[in-house]
Amino acid sequence: MPTVKEVLAYGTQILNQNKIGDATRDARLLLMHLLSCDRATLIINNDKLVEEEIVATYFKYIDRRKNHEPLQYITHYQEFMGLPFYVDQNVLIPRQDTELLVEKLIALPWNHHPIGLEIGVGSGCISVSLLHYISNLTMVCSDISQAALDIAAKNASINACIPRIKFIHSDLFANIPQQKFDFIVSNPPYIPKCEMNQLQPEVLDFEPAAALTDSGDGLAFYRAIATEAKKYEIGILAFEIGYNQGPDVTKILEIEGYQNIQLFYDYNNKHRVIIAQQGEI
Ligand SMILES: C[S@@+](CC[C@H](N)C(=O)[O-])C[C@H]1O[C@@H](n2cnc3c(N)ncnc32)[C@H](O)[C@@H]1O
Repeated sequence: MPTVKEVLAYGTQILNQNKIGDATRDARLLLMHLLSCDRATLIINNDKLVEEEIVATYFKYIDRRKNHEPLQYITHYQEFMGLPFYVDQNVLIPRQDTELLVEKLIALPWNHHPIGLEIGVGSGCISVSLLHYISNLTMVCSDISQAALDIAAKNASINACIPRIKFIHSDLFANIPQQKFDFIVSNPPYIPKCEMNQLQPEVLDFEPAAALTDSGDGLAFYRAIATEAKKYEIGILAFEIGYNQGPDVTKILEIEGYQNIQLFYDYNNKHRVIIAQQGEI
């Protein structure tokens, strides 16, 4: 049986040979996942032997990563807003950039029992985090993908917020009942079709296309949601946007008559979040 050190060295070598960005880190994280241990435990046990069965699974994982499958789809895990999320190929992997959208909503002065609607819930990272950090909040969550809704429900259960979350299978607002929402939030598919070929293989070949692009100019969902949302009584409309979509989405919201339109920058100093107001919150 090989030692931890030997297994890691060989895993790292394979990933390096296949030009996987952070080969050392990924080789280590895959072994930590299989051994259910943290980094310190792995280092302390460098000279311990690894069971053959674990070695075999480890090299299957290395093989998948070598072919650019994202680490998170192999380990089925991504942290978001300090909370654990299950992920697989049916949902977009939660991005750190999206935390800004959640942080901006958490910071608003919610002083009663707010009700929010999320269009395109995916893994549930936005809604579940909002429920975790805003007490008395209730969320209605929709997605066109039933598989995504099932994963969002699993994550709601993992993070103990099932009683305050409702799921609706819907193409945009098609099945969303008429009711008042204090806010509508969405991180819609916003990559323009013409930019799809610039994506890393990890994204293009593995993440669901329906979560990435509108197959058009990248603005179709902003137009549709901004228009449809006006049929509901809402307070706030909040979107994640692409780094260069600030001016276009601002214009869409202005044309639709939204007020107090605010753009927020991410840590790379790019537009990432836009929030507008339709009514009182
Ligand atoms: C960019 S992902 C965002 C997922 C998650 N909210 C997040 O921030 O990680 C967009 C989501 O919108 C969903 N979606 C795409 N088209 C839709 C439509 N017409 N109606 C509702 N949801 C849609 C996709 O299935 C996907 O889960």
